[in-house]
Parts: sequence; C-alpha cells; structure tokens
Amino acid sequence: MAFREDFLWGGATAANQCEGGYAEGGRGLANVDVVPHGKDRWAVVTGAKKMFDFDEEHYYPAKKSIDMYHHYLDDIKLFGEMGFKTYRLSIAWSRIFPNGDDEFPNEEGLKFYEAIFKECRKYGIEPLVTLVHFDCPMHLITEYGGWRNRKVIGFFVNYCKTVFTRYKGLVKYWLTFNEINMILHGPFMAAGLFFEEGEDRTQIQYQAAHHELVASALAVRMAHGIDPQNKVGCMLAAGQYYPFTCKPQDVWAAFESDREGYFFVDVQARGEYPDYAWKRFEREKIKLDITEDDLEILKESPVDFISFSYYSSRVASGDPTAAGTTEGNVFASLKNPYLEASQWGWQIDPLGLRITLNALYDRYQKPLFIVENGLGAKDVADVNGYVEDDYRIDYLKSHIEAMKDAVEIDGVDLMGYTPWGCIDLVSASTGEMSKRYGFIYVDLDDSGNGTGKRFRKKSFYWYKKVIAANGEDLTY
Ligand code: BG6
Repeated sequence: MAFREDFLWGGATAANQCEGGYAEGGRGLANVDVVPHGKDRWAVVTGAKKMFDFDEEHYYPAKKSIDMYHHYLDDIKLFGEMGFKTYRLSIAWSRIFPNGDDEFPNEEGLKFYEAIFKECRKYGIEPLVTLVHFDCPMHLITEYGGWRNRKVIGFFVNYCKTVFTRYKGLVKYWLTFNEINMILHGPFMAAGLFFEEGEDRTQIQYQAAHHELVASALAVRMAHGIDPQNKVGCMLAAGQYYPFTCKPQDVWAAFESDREGYFFVDVQARGEYPDYAWKRFEREKIKLDITEDDLEILKESPVDFISFSYYSSRVASGDPTAAGTTEGNVFASLKNPYLEASQWGWQIDPLGLRITLNALYDRYQKPLFIVENGLGAKDVADVNGYVEDDYRIDYLKSHIEAMKDAVEIDGVDLMGYTPWGCIDLVSASTGEMSKRYGFIYVDLDDSGNGTGKRFRKKSFYWYKKVIAANGEDLTY
C-alpha cells in the first residue's frame, strides 16, 4: 500500500469562501468581506483601491457565500458519507474577536466552531484548522494598519490562546497562515495591508511578513504548551518553477523565483532567516524591525509539518521581455507549451506535484501535507442537479498517481490530501461561484441567485471509493 494507514484523506474550505453569515452571531467585519466581485476585485485584493466597508456599487460574494453558517450539519454529513478522515476549514478570526483587539472573545462564535468540530468527530473526521485563511478583523486594519503593525502579533496570540484552550481535545491539527507567501501578491486580502502614496511596498510587505512569521512561531510554541498532542503546520502556495529553457539565465530565474516562496518555509521550518534573505534586505535597503527575542522565538519553535497548496507548476525566464504569461493562482508565470490548461488558464501538471513534493521534502525533511489541489471548472448540472464531472476526476486521479509515485518510489513522507473546495464555494481570485472545485454541487450562480441546494456529483462517488481503498483503486 502506497499511503500510510492513517493517511488523512479529506477536503478543504475557508470560512470567507463558504460560511456567509457575515454579520450573524456577533461576528465583526473583516477584509475578506469587502473584496467585491467584478472589475475592482483585483485592485482591492492588492491594496491599490481602498475598501473598508460595503458600498452600493459592488456585489460582495463573501457576505453569503454558500451559507454554510446555516448548512454545516448537512454539509458535514455529506463529508462523512464520502468517508473523509479530515476536514480542513478555517476559523473566521472576527467571529471569535469581532474587532480583533477585544478583551473577551465572542461566546457565540466559539460555540459555532465547537459545534462544527463536534459534528466532525461524530463522523470520525479529524478537523484540520487554519487559524488565518486570509482574514483580518477590519478594526485591526483601520486602527492599526493590519499586519504591518507589531501590535497585531499580540492580538493574534490572544486569539490563538483562546481557540487552543477552548478546542483542546477537539482539534489537534492546526495551520497558522494560509498561503503565507500570498502577502507578496494580494497584500490587502492576505494581510489587511494597504499603501499610501509614496510608501515602500516591499519594505511594508516584508515587515508584515516578519510579524506573521513571529506570530506563527509563537502559535506553535503555545499550541504545544497547551496540548502536547497538537501538531502545527505552515502553509505555502507552492508549485515548482521550471526554467523556460536550459539557458543558465533561465535556470537562475527559476531558482530565484522558487526562493521567493521558500523564504517563508525556511524561516518557519528551519527557524532562521536564510542568508540569501539577509543579503537581499541589505542590497535592496529593506530595513526591518527584527529583535533578538524575535530571532529566538523563530529558532525555538519550528513547525511540525509543512502543508501547501498545489494547482500548477510555473515557468520563469531570465529575459524580462519574454512573452506569454499565463494565469495561475496570482503568481506570474510564463506559459508552458507542453501543458494543457483549465478553463481559467491554470496549467495542469501532475508530474509537477511529484517534483514539488520532492523539492520540499529534500529541503526540509519534515512530513508534508497537500491541503489544496483541484480543478476549477464550469459544471453543467442536469435536471436532478447531477454533474458528470469526468474532467475533475481525471485531474484528481492524475495528481493522486503523482503523490503515489512521490511516496512509493521517492520515499516522501506525506500525511494527507485535502482537495480544495470539496463543496463548491466562492473563488478567491475571481469571486465567482461558477469556478467550481467540489464533489458537491451547490445551486448558486455568480450573483448569489439559486436555491443553494447541494447535490452529489459523479466525483463524489469516485472520491468515496478512493478513500475507502486508501488510494489503491482510482478507477471509475
Ligand atoms: C488558494 C487559496 O490560493 O487557491 C484558496 O488558498 C483559493 O482560498 C484557491 O480559493 C483556489 O483559487 P481560486 O481563485 O480558484 O478560488
């Protein structure tokens, strides 16, 4: 058998993309709520356009999402029916601390997640909880400037202490920051950062990243202190860079592009800023406020495992004028002429997953966890809501085969696999419902219209069989 006996098969979601109920149960407003659908989305995500509240002009999909806030019992039941061993979800920070800096947590918010975790356990599902999946309470942004402010570390630690204590015995797998490297690409959505005219963006982004790295290490230390059973991972938006050609300049460009992401895991897994980062800060005059205490905590509390999302490999060239960029998880990449692409232009590369797994395992020698992977595609449901999504099965099948090779042939230590958007949800990059990843179809369109009813797709039955056979039977 390729995969461990306790391999964690499951699926992944994030609060802002599925919960809705944005103003219910005492929840406070967050950055992720005010990212609109439509042409201004990207400007808001990157912090170029300030959006701190709703306006009349835009549609905000996160307000309702798929309304899991009111449907979680049925949804978890469906996950149980598929045989999930784990369910990756995130806690909306502003449900627990509506303003972020509140003295006391919001009991209603705490009860909500407690009910979810208990429901998971009823089906033998181990919750895998992301502490921050892009969200930051709005008050921390308007009052403190988001993660650029060191004080936010303290508010985050308080939030962690609250949830680690309250959910002791219910949750043992935690992730600190979803796709921590996203702070460099979508700084408002990922870390509540916005920029004033003339500010040095790079400096602010790396200072905020440093605060998150310290916060992450403090969370690891606290999680272990509160419950030695706790296992805490970091989370990287991964995908190996290939050189566009074997020209040494292209190889170097790919090498450097990979380092942009490795930078975060180097600190979180090895406990130290890598030398190439110090050199870069010096060269580019990036002056960071890093204290001796910070360095000590980083050193003292590396993560237990490394989790990552993988949708595609990427391509880099040493020639800045090289033409032919492609879409893909907001990371700039050249088009790879050898690969097919999804309807959204994300290139499909299962072998790239094996390469990425090996690169991460060689570098860190820590257990790995694929916590996002999947195909965003337009589904057409029949009159009964059934979707024959062979294309999605093919995508997942080829990626599971690549995982198998990495484990069986290469010896990579892989803990689990949670494909993204196991139930259809709102897309992070586009705000669309029609970019669907799920095993479960949700009857809602891009404007939030529809019954919201859930239907099992063909992939639902296939994945159930895959889990039951621990990945040994991938046929359909
Ligand atoms: C990752 C995020 O970047 O990719 C998810 O962690 C996101 O939040 C997923 O939804 C897929 O991207 P998209 O843009 O297709 O939703």
